[in-house]
Amino acid sequence: MYYPDELIEEIRTKNDIVDVISGYVRLQRKGSNYFGLCPFHNEKSPSFSVSGPKQMYYCFGCGAGGNVITFLMEYENFTFQEAVKALAERAGVALPEMEYSHEEKKAQSRRTRLLEVNKEAAKYFYFQLRSKQGVVGYQYLKNRELSDETMNRFGLGYSNKYSDDLIRYLKSKGYQEDLIRDAGLCNVDEKHGMYDKFWNRVMFPIQDINHRVIGFGGRVMGDGKPKYLNSPETEIFDKSRNLYGLNFARTSRKGNIILCEGYMDVIAMHQAGFTQAVASLGTAFTVGQAGLLKRYAQEVLLSYDSDGAGVNAALRAIGILKEAGLGGKVINLEPYKDPDEFMKNLGPEEFQKRLDSAENSFFFEIRQLQKQYDINDPEGKTKFHREIARKLCEFSEEVERENYIEAIAQKYHIGFESLRRLVGTYASQTGLVRPVERPKSGVQKKNTPQDSVRRAQKLLLTWLVDQPQLYPKIKKYISAGDFTEELYVKVAQRLFADMDAQTVNPAAIISMFEDEEEQREVASLFHTKLERLEREQDREKAFHDIVYSVKRNSYERDCQNMGTDVEALQRVIAGKKQLEELNKTHISLQ
Ligand code: GTP
Ligand code: MN
Repeated sequence: MYYPDELIEEIRTKNDIVDVISGYVRLQRKGSNYFGLCPFHNEKSPSFSVSGPKQMYYCFGCGAGGNVITFLMEYENFTFQEAVKALAERAGVALPEMEYSHEEKKAQSRRTRLLEVNKEAAKYFYFQLRSKQGVVGYQYLKNRELSDETMNRFGLGYSNKYSDDLIRYLKSKGYQEDLIRDAGLCNVDEKHGMYDKFWNRVMFPIQDINHRVIGFGGRVMGDGKPKYLNSPETEIFDKSRNLYGLNFARTSRKGNIILCEGYMDVIAMHQAGFTQAVASLGTAFTVGQAGLLKRYAQEVLLSYDSDGAGVNAALRAIGILKEAGLGGKVINLEPYKDPDEFMKNLGPEEFQKRLDSAENSFFFEIRQLQKQYDINDPEGKTKFHREIARKLCEFSEEVERENYIEAIAQKYHIGFESLRRLVGTYASQTGLVRPVERPKSGVQKKNTPQDSVRRAQKLLLTWLVDQPQLYPKIKKYISAGDFTEELYVKVAQRLFADMDAQTVNPAAIISMFEDEEEQREVASLFHTKLERLEREQDREKAFHDIVYSVKRNSYERDCQNMGTDVEALQRVIAGKKQLEELNKTHISLQ
């Protein structure tokens, strides 16, 4: 169901964007705008702007932008409805009960109840760890050098030695057996009936990005088996779409994410200040998790165990990261087994050095590959080189491939040209990539005509939002139909209608769209970079050129699609007349 537009608008206007964003980003005033470091990408000088009058934000560095609702969607990863709800609460606006269908209601309340029972269990474990019966657990964690603060932050707990301790507690709180079972907190079998899944273990609550407990990992406090017991997948616990520690890592804003194997690794890293560390949930790293990470960082640093299993897991993770379009590097932890041990022995400064010198994931792959061949034997060496060439075919972009061929040739003392030819042979054989072409000149890809058309339309919208007094002057020539993209047309329709009614409200236009990407794009329409021109007459000419170019493009489009009907013909004739007139007309910016 949807909230009515008026209500959304009321909520939006009651949450001043400068106030809201100030809670997340340090802003400094510059004229009527505020500037700060963009929370959506890593930067050293502020290109993130927030406008009070426009009630919009925009980053000139990464293009993030929108209104206050968009901001919460991007920052907190909320859906549109969730963002509206949070803002309603903030401003004390009452929301009508959402009208769900019967099925939706059932699913919704079931999820809520599962989250609730998990939360209750987490609270119980947490309390046990800090009471007398939990001393063993507490001591175990202390021995592993976790501070009280860290234990609290991660909500660590302890499950008692009895086999139905948690069940009894949860039942006393009124939770039904089937809910406890469906949350994966107990096992049921014929011989024992219903009994706790976790007992006599230190407990790691697993949280989703919104800090809600969705499952648990429990570790034995010695050498027992299994070392870790994890909650089964449930309706709220999807192991392939969540990551341990991401609830903290996602706001760490370090520009990268460190991917570890274990819960203890993540905790040790966070304790040492590397709050961008996450781990998969006792299963292999998945494509879904890579997609999740992509929202928060461009680069993932692998910090897997340095043993054989760890290397293999890293190799698989590299493949998955590549598939998701994420860059990867591998951190060398030698001579230690995992980040936790490394941190204990060498500390954060040394770790930072390892981080800075992390190995390019392709080099890592080739280095591991080499171990399979005896390169002192010409036969083995040849096979190794062939394998390298095959792998180099993965780079479909020519420049990148050439750079890697060059680097690898140098590293492994292979002739550049012969390696290049070998890559070419495999590429054409397997059809993975086209044979390496002769290097072309370094000229960048030119903008297509469509790009410049779109750009003129964007510039026009930005001009009009910045200086609404210009609208009446161009109204005669330009209408929403002159825009080409569907999104632009919608925006122009609404903007022009608003301007006719003398109320310009770009931030309200943004919330016509529920999709974050669309909101971002609408915001970008109002924030196209305008050339800074000193002289008034230059600015006038620039504006005139933009209006003319939008109109001309629209006219040319009409000519092409004219066909035979009379109406279209008339439109073309009118368009031509307008263009001629526009050409002769001076538009003052005053
Ligand atoms: P510590 O030995 O406590 O330092 O654990 P760790 O965090 O270093 O974990 P390890 O590298 O041994 O394993 C990595 C991850 O795999 C753990 O965090 C668990 O999620 C999972 N895992 C480890 N052992 C088991 C097991 O016996 N069963 C299951 N299901 N998962 C396990
Ligand atoms: Mn470990």
